[in-house]
Amino acid sequence: MKKILISGGLGYIGSHTVVELIDRNYDVTIIDDLSNSEEKVLDGIESICGQRPEWIDLDLSDKSKSDDYLKNQNFDGIIHFAAFKAVGESVENPLKYYRNNLFSLLNVMSYLETHKNCAFIFSSSCTVYGEAIKLPIKENEIIKPAESPYGNTKQICEEIIRESSVAYNLKSIALRYFNPIGAHPSGKIGELPIGVPQNLVPFITQSAAGIRGELNVYGNDYPTADGSAIRDYIHVVDLAEAHLVALERLLTDKNESNAEVYNIGTGTGSSVLDVIKAFEKATGESLQYKIAGRRKGDIISAYADTNLAEQKLGWKSKKTLEDALKDAWRWQKNLM
Ligand code: WQD
Repeated sequence: MKKILISGGLGYIGSHTVVELIDRNYDVTIIDDLSNSEEKVLDGIESICGQRPEWIDLDLSDKSKSDDYLKNQNFDGIIHFAAFKAVGESVENPLKYYRNNLFSLLNVMSYLETHKNCAFIFSSSCTVYGEAIKLPIKENEIIKPAESPYGNTKQICEEIIRESSVAYNLKSIALRYFNPIGAHPSGKIGELPIGVPQNLVPFITQSAAGIRGELNVYGNDYPTADGSAIRDYIHVVDLAEAHLVALERLLTDKNESNAEVYNIGTGTGSSVLDVIKAFEKATGESLQYKIAGRRKGDIISAYADTNLAEQKLGWKSKKTLEDALKDAWRWQKNLM
């Protein structure tokens, strides 16, 4: 059994990836300091998989504690999710983001420096592209200066990984996610947003559940077919599976370079109004919404060119937007 460390494994994408890996018989260890998750996520994982993975309560940005733990380990692979991810908060408190996201990565890289055969998957983001010049977005799109400290941590982390992977002959893959949504179809794990959700789908499900008021549609004057902004919404279970196939590519030495990068999206753009309609159709609920002004920092349109992931990873998203919204709604109802 291959031993895989999943940092941030109790978080939203991490927990779904843990489930996929346990299902395929990997021996999973989770590191998570519960900074944006809860211990009860382990119960959800256990009830889906029939086993409870090992969980280490550790802040990976703490060098001495991380070294103490990692020095005795022998992992075949590491999937590194542990990071802060709130764009707005990163603007207000950039050092919190640079300290956490960069130190955590550096501590994991120190382990890789002495365990060169350990496969490494990094959780990156389409946010590195900003407003892309060409759509759909290919991996070789120009990376522009980041719009937020959060986005900058993803760009810097990718550079650290690329340069170190080449210099120390490591094997790494960075996955640039588009907009992850949905929940496990069992309804047992999903996203746990703290406070008022900033992201579209958690706001929609909480609004439909009566926890929030009407949804603000941020802008209907964009140069898109219906005037609302376009994103590539990918089901979190499809995304979790992408981590599994990327990991297996490295474990079987199929990678063609030390540091590969893949877009992980569906390849289809949906507008905010499309998502509202799809939610109503998928769930039979009706949503209250109003058109509000544009949100600062939002881009017009982003969706992935997924050809590279299809060709090299043999991975393609399978679930529809409606599947994701149905699953997000089931999860929301289970939370109440
Ligand atoms: C989607 C669309 C909003 C809320 C997020 C992360 C980003 C990156 C990608 C990780 C936009 C509109 C939203 C609402 C709305 N992920 N909207 N009303 O902005 O694409 O970015 O995913 O790295 O860092 O922040 O996602 O879900 O916030 O917004 O109209 O109440 O929905 O304006 O067009 P976004 P989102």
